[in-house]
Amino acid sequence: MTVEAGSPGDIGVRRIVLVGFMGCGKSSVGRALAGLLNWRFVDMDDEIEARTGRSIPEIFAAGGEAAFRGIEEAVGADLLRETDFVLASGGGWAATEGRLSALPSGTVSVWLKVSAEEAIRRAGSQGTPRPMLASEDPVGAAAELLRAREPFYSVADVALDSEGSEPQRLAVDVLRAIREMPGGREG
Ligand code: S3P
Repeated sequence: MTVEAGSPGDIGVRRIVLVGFMGCGKSSVGRALAGLLNWRFVDMDDEIEARTGRSIPEIFAAGGEAAFRGIEEAVGADLLRETDFVLASGGGWAATEGRLSALPSGTVSVWLKVSAEEAIRRAGSQGTPRPMLASEDPVGAAAELLRAREPFYSVADVALDSEGSEPQRLAVDVLRAIREMPGGREG
């Protein structure tokens, strides 16, 4: 697919950060987006696992959520020093007061929206263990967590519904939405 004339770089965008609940498509859309832009794609969870030498469930099992969040914050801050890449954040990374509003200049944040039911359906088919959803009632747990996180996700510069479109199509929609942002972001 050809990218329309004008890249995000033309409006001062140096990196794109995808945020949203588990299963919203951050990784698949991020990969497609990076392909369109000829940028690198980085998955925050993969980086955490590579840098610690431990899987996400192992980190949670050893130190609980607090330990994971500490590592996630440090890895996220380090990654955001780079440019010309698309970052798929972990589902809880953006859900901290002030995190999205403190992104470095030249960064566009994109919230991919998904319902709790669809998130659980996708999470089940992906086979990636999600400690935050380990519950007798995963849809109920997801709905509660999603409700608590939505105010944080909604700070993102762009919001798009992730249901009903393939990743490649969503990636094109993300680019269009970024180009339509008033003035973009100064880099
Ligand atoms: C989490 C989401 C996961 C991973 C960890 C915690 C969360 O990432 O970071 O299991 O708190 O929502 P994905 O959103 O990529 O599944």
